[in-house]
Amino acid sequence: MILVLFGPPGSGKGTQSEMLLQSGNFVHISTGDLLRAEVASGSEIGLKVKEIMSQGGFPSDDLIMTLVQGQLDTHKGKQIIFDGFPRTLNQVLAFDALLGVQRENVSIVINLQVDLDQLVDRVSGRFSCKGCGAVYHDRNKRPLQDGVCDRCQGTEFIRRADDQPEVLKNRVRTYLDQTQAVCDFYRQKDLVVDLDASKDPVSVNNDLKISLAQAGFKI
Ligand code: AP5
Ligand code: MG
Repeated sequence: MILVLFGPPGSGKGTQSEMLLQSGNFVHISTGDLLRAEVASGSEIGLKVKEIMSQGGFPSDDLIMTLVQGQLDTHKGKQIIFDGFPRTLNQVLAFDALLGVQRENVSIVINLQVDLDQLVDRVSGRFSCKGCGAVYHDRNKRPLQDGVCDRCQGTEFIRRADDQPEVLKNRVRTYLDQTQAVCDFYRQKDLVVDLDASKDPVSVNNDLKISLAQAGFKI
């Protein structure tokens, strides 16, 4: 089954994915994470996309679909969380075609709704563990022990290059211009459930699990 976690930058897609993964019943595919891994590895793809991502723009749909196809083949038949994908109408159509080959469908689209002015605070306070990628926030979600990752006990933390306020503005603009239409598309197919994502992460996760259980997911 396929869950599309949808929402603007900083709405909590990664945080909610991480919480769902704790049950062991889901696989997580984040196109942002896949792209950042390419950049970190210095691969040909990484070199191509680094500049685009650092300005808050989108790499080509073809490139995104190549990354997604590889992941879909690997995780065929599992309960998959798509985080940050699809993000353009072209990606929606290409995704439908790929899923059709596997006789799969998008089962539900969860739309994480947060006022845009909350996003600046969330994104500018975000940092993550360099070792395992666990995500924290300067105020909302600090590690239990300052300077030590809860998950892997790593002591090095990083901030994303695209989390600076000027770049965030571009990311939000790109979201409004290109990505919101994806939600409208799925809404017409009656697949969208809107969640109030301005609540605390645990409350959002409880609401999310209720919707997923109703849609037939094993939580
Ligand atoms: P991507 O990595 O997908 O970034 P994004 O969509 O901009 O979303 P974020 O990861 O910034 O936010 P999030 O919703 O995951 O929030 P999080 O849980 O971390 O994409 C990055 C870039 O890659 C794009 O700009 C583009 O260039 C490229 N890209 C990726 N996919 C693409 C595609 N399909 N096509 C084309 N290009 C693509 O939370 C944020 C912070 O808030 C954290 O600190 C967290 O602790 C805190 N927080 C979370 N929930 C709450 C809560 N409920 N209350 C208070 N604080 C909270
Ligand atoms: Mg994320």
